[in-house]
Amino acid sequence: MASDNEFAVETRATNITWHRPAVGRRDKEKLLSQRGILLWFTGLSASGKSTIAHALEHELYRTGYLTAVLDGDNIRHGLNRDLGFSHREREENIRRIGEVAKLFTENGVITMTAFISPFRSDRDKIRASLGEGNFIEIHVKCPLEELQRRDPKGLYKKALAGEVREFTGISSPYEEPLHPEITLDTSLLSPDECVQALLRLLREWKVLNRCASPGGAGNATANIAPRSPS
Ligand SMILES: Nc1ncnc2c1ncn2[C@@H]1O[C@H](COP(=O)(O)OP(=O)(O)OP(=O)(O)O)[C@@H](O)[C@H]1O
Ligand SMILES: [Mg+2]
Repeated sequence: MASDNEFAVETRATNITWHRPAVGRRDKEKLLSQRGILLWFTGLSASGKSTIAHALEHELYRTGYLTAVLDGDNIRHGLNRDLGFSHREREENIRRIGEVAKLFTENGVITMTAFISPFRSDRDKIRASLGEGNFIEIHVKCPLEELQRRDPKGLYKKALAGEVREFTGISSPYEEPLHPEITLDTSLLSPDECVQALLRLLREWKVLNRCASPGGAGNATANIAPRSPS
């Protein structure tokens, strides 16, 4: 497990120079006929982040858009396998994911991240780093009782029995977004209704420019904040 002072807060290296790329973000977006954007799914375990992100990816793939999903435990198998679940390690986990997601986004990819990401300040740092119009925070919300009923990984049962320590929502805090671009209550909406609401939002944000972009009725119970891209 990493110690508290192991991760650099500021750039350590000196004598480094930014190399200006010959092919820019707009060139790649033009090539792909899409706009790079980061869809940041946040919410408690079993709220539906992965289910919705992968369903949305499938729908976008079907209609010809290039996407990438960075998903919870998968990243902990590779890039972040040195990290545990202390506050500092959770922070570093999200920081690295934010940096990788930014690289994808700036290369024109519709990027999705599906992590509990419990701390507001971590999410806000990534929002600031991406810049206005490039970051959509999606609060995947569901009452704790329903999450415990779903419990697809059996983790709530273990956490309540004290077998899993620092479990978000039970023994570790979750800070809800204050101003998410959209809130999806998965105790009220089906996965497909959530996908349709997100497609509608992506069209509003002019991420999906092609005529062939999938249609969808949207849903009145999805709470879309009035904020729009700059
Ligand atoms: N409207 C819904 N949207 C998404 N998932 C739903 C919905 N209704 C029920 N479910 C079920 O809830 C569970 C959500 O699990 P999922 O793995 O997507 O959660 P998660 O938020 O990614 O959790 P974790 O943080 O542990 O990875 C699945 O079993 C899914 O079938
Ligand atoms: Mg998941």
